[in-house]
Amino acid sequence: MCGIVGYVGSRDAAPLLMEGLARLEYRGYDSAGLAIHDGKEIGIRRAPGKLRVLSRLLERKPLSGTLGIGHTRWATHGRPSEENAHPHRAGRVVVVHNGILENHSELRQRLEKKGRRFTSQTDTEVFAHLIDEELGRKPLEEAVRRALRYVRGTYALAVLCADQPDRIVATKNASPLVVGLCQNENLVASDVPAILEHTRKFVFIEDGELALVQAGRVKIQTPDGKPVRRRSRHIGWSPLMAEKGGHKHFMHKEIHEQPRALADTLTGRVLRDSADVHLDSVKLRVRDLKNLSRIVIVACGTSWHAGLVGKFLIERFARIPVEVDLASEFRYRGPILSDRDLVVAISQSGETADTLAAVREARKLGARVLCICNVMDSGIPRTSDHVLYTHAGPEIGVASTKAFVTQMAALFLLAVRLGRARKTLSEKEARKQLAALAAAPEHIERILKNEPHIQEIARAFHTTKAFLFIARGINYPIALEGALKLKEISYIHAEGYPAGEMKHGPIALIEKDVAVVAVATKNSTYEKVLSNLSEVRARDGQVIAICNQRDKKIETYSPHLLPVPATLDTVEPLLTILPLQLLAYHIANFNGTDVDQPRNLAKSVTVE
Ligand code: AGP
Repeated sequence: MCGIVGYVGSRDAAPLLMEGLARLEYRGYDSAGLAIHDGKEIGIRRAPGKLRVLSRLLERKPLSGTLGIGHTRWATHGRPSEENAHPHRAGRVVVVHNGILENHSELRQRLEKKGRRFTSQTDTEVFAHLIDEELGRKPLEEAVRRALRYVRGTYALAVLCADQPDRIVATKNASPLVVGLCQNENLVASDVPAILEHTRKFVFIEDGELALVQAGRVKIQTPDGKPVRRRSRHIGWSPLMAEKGGHKHFMHKEIHEQPRALADTLTGRVLRDSADVHLDSVKLRVRDLKNLSRIVIVACGTSWHAGLVGKFLIERFARIPVEVDLASEFRYRGPILSDRDLVVAISQSGETADTLAAVREARKLGARVLCICNVMDSGIPRTSDHVLYTHAGPEIGVASTKAFVTQMAALFLLAVRLGRARKTLSEKEARKQLAALAAAPEHIERILKNEPHIQEIARAFHTTKAFLFIARGINYPIALEGALKLKEISYIHAEGYPAGEMKHGPIALIEKDVAVVAVATKNSTYEKVLSNLSEVRARDGQVIAICNQRDKKIETYSPHLLPVPATLDTVEPLLTILPLQLLAYHIANFNGTDVDQPRNLAKSVTVE
């Protein structure tokens, strides 16, 4: 996610902004920039790459002034480059932005028709032009408020105006933004760490509200301009805690970011009126989609588990045969591919060596490659024909969580698009499926609220020596993923298995020191999973069950229940993984392992 810092006061702004941006580096970024008002005009310096590149630029071409805004960009629209880096200027207005402007294309067209010229591929530049259009002789805060009437999407904005050199206007919708209060100077930032060294006194503005930030005062207003009285809060975090937003680990923070990450990945892609999907940067024509004979998914680890869920979704909606290959095995099996095959490569980092090698092999064999990735312009997207980006934001914890849920959502969108193009998915069914998907972020929020209960189950089981995760159908990959989460951060042996395989071997493992974690939601496999649980209980095995809320029957099979809201079976994996992520996290936490940097593991496996 992008980082924003702003300063207004009597000190030189540039070094303060650079220090603030450095404290936001953990958020991940691929370009950076500053805008400084020297009292007469606004100077801008921007550079792709890390902050040291921007620092060197500022040494060569310094900016001086006591008012400024800075930005680190995590690219979502438009590749990492100088012209796409923030801040963006239009006329007298300069903005920095974090979020996704859903209707940027239509607004850009409307503004171009008015003679506006754009210099970047970003959605952010649209904000600058919209505000400049409204400015006239109005106070900047009034122009910002009027411009926001046209936008749909998520944003945290900090705005400067060339002829109003005493103020920053800041506003937000869904993306974070805080105001830091000091004596005769004030600051804004997308996150507390950026400005914690200057103040412990913060004001948190709510969605839609707007803050007029000047050296001697901060005024908060409602979307229609009425003043808001908001008490300041004292933040006692250490700087390191602040980077994790008060969470003990990045993994915990990222588990809790999943509603936002999922919503951001869906934003601008679900076409409600036509019950279809817009896959922005995937340029596959309907004719291409109709001629496809097969889809081959290649990935590693958690991304491979997402691919297994994708198989269910694509075969269900598009009726195309789907194979799912471990990328590390793919090129050794002499794959048979043609130009009627579509290879889908899934990777959070976009740098996994095995997956990159599989992509190269696929292209050599004549197949087209679509990649689902979370890091713009990384190696795998650059090697693929088409890219569908997840918008999970940087994932710092080695154990993948929010990337996994957004990968499944991206596969869901791809499956719907394929099904609608191939007329194997009716408008009515697509509408029903997309509505269930759109409700998933709220369902996830409800599961997260049950964390204390999950933590108590983790406490009861954190000394268990072995776990068997079982599930059937579309939740089978969730059993694999739940086992991977537990083993990679707690070092406890855990295995995922299709529940139907229990009699074919794994049931020999069952005894009182083995815990069986089952996905037992009320879908078509429910009764069969219950019979698996009876077999486990008959052998003194302990059962932890993911179930639907208010399921009374399951209570006779286990006292350790992890409830999730009911939804369509196609959407269930996005929910059933949540309790397993939290179970793994808390078991590891009770055991004191290094949750964010587990032994022997790297976030991105760039070697084969
Ligand atoms: C998942 O928790 C692990 N960190 C690992 O299995 C990971 O999913 C795998 O290495 C693939 O990484 P990628 O998605 O960046 O390609």
